[in-house]
Amino acid sequence: MKFPGILTKNILMETTGEISLPAQVKLLPGHCGLPKLVIQISHSSAEIYLHGAHITDFQKTGEPPLLFMSAASRYETNQPIRGGVPVIFPWFGPRAGQPAHGFARQTSWELESASVEKNGEVKVSLRLSETSMPADWRAAQLRFSVTVGDSLTMELSVTNRSPDKSLSFEDCLHTYFAIGDIADVSITGLQGAPYIDKVDGASTKQERGAAITFNSEVDRVFPNASGSVEIHDRKFHRTIVVEKSGSASTVVWNPWIAKSKAMADFGDEEFKQMICVESGNVGENQITLPPGKTARMKVILSSRRVE
Ligand code: BG6
Repeated sequence: MKFPGILTKNILMETTGEISLPAQVKLLPGHCGLPKLVIQISHSSAEIYLHGAHITDFQKTGEPPLLFMSAASRYETNQPIRGGVPVIFPWFGPRAGQPAHGFARQTSWELESASVEKNGEVKVSLRLSETSMPADWRAAQLRFSVTVGDSLTMELSVTNRSPDKSLSFEDCLHTYFAIGDIADVSITGLQGAPYIDKVDGASTKQERGAAITFNSEVDRVFPNASGSVEIHDRKFHRTIVVEKSGSASTVVWNPWIAKSKAMADFGDEEFKQMICVESGNVGENQITLPPGKTARMKVILSSRRVE
């Protein structure tokens, strides 16, 4: 199968000019014909759209999906996908005259390599081509690698190719987790941390409870929060662990009732089935890269059953 724009370089087992992927990886048309990688190994499966390098599914065998996807998501070339893991770059949040959360999540990425690791995990690497980026961001070289195993490992790397200018940006892996019921979920790992409360005029507050629970809209940006976070889901009998490096900020978001209704690509009731715990470098943690340097953010998502 041939898809335009896909690099053949580094892909295992090329045959007769066509791209041959390892048997565990298939490149198929997804929603609205957008190409997606479908990865299947013995203990898990995953799907990644080239549009936005967007992971739309990761599921361990015998468990509910780890990632939430909205049934109302658009799959259009000039729109972000709603759910999964949007890759946010080079700014976080709205920006006048520009797409909210940056252009990376609504630009088509290229598959660079796909391989099976010695331990049976599958690793794919995507890159954002220079020509598909706005002219003033072409100094940035973006790669996103995804390793599918018993856990899901994501690494976003940004290299500043400029010979003489530094590069400042925000980035974020805006992960939507699937949960049994928002009323039965709590988040730990952020106790005592200061945060910017985006639903209260961006005022600065401090997380005081033993865990974050949800009974209204939550939109909190935690600067200088580089530790692991756990999502305790009593209905699914599951604890999800978010471990990370190279990420100084954590964002926790649930849109609740009014905002859900206001979003065209999100179901009115879907806020009950999702929670975003986002790993990034935003606001005061934005990154400034000297010429020639690379910033790497790695996020590992794992889960365990809890009785
Ligand atoms: C979160 C922001 O990261 O993303 C929220 O903190 C925002 O304020 C949410 O509403 C969703 O953004 P978007 O652009 O995907 O609708």
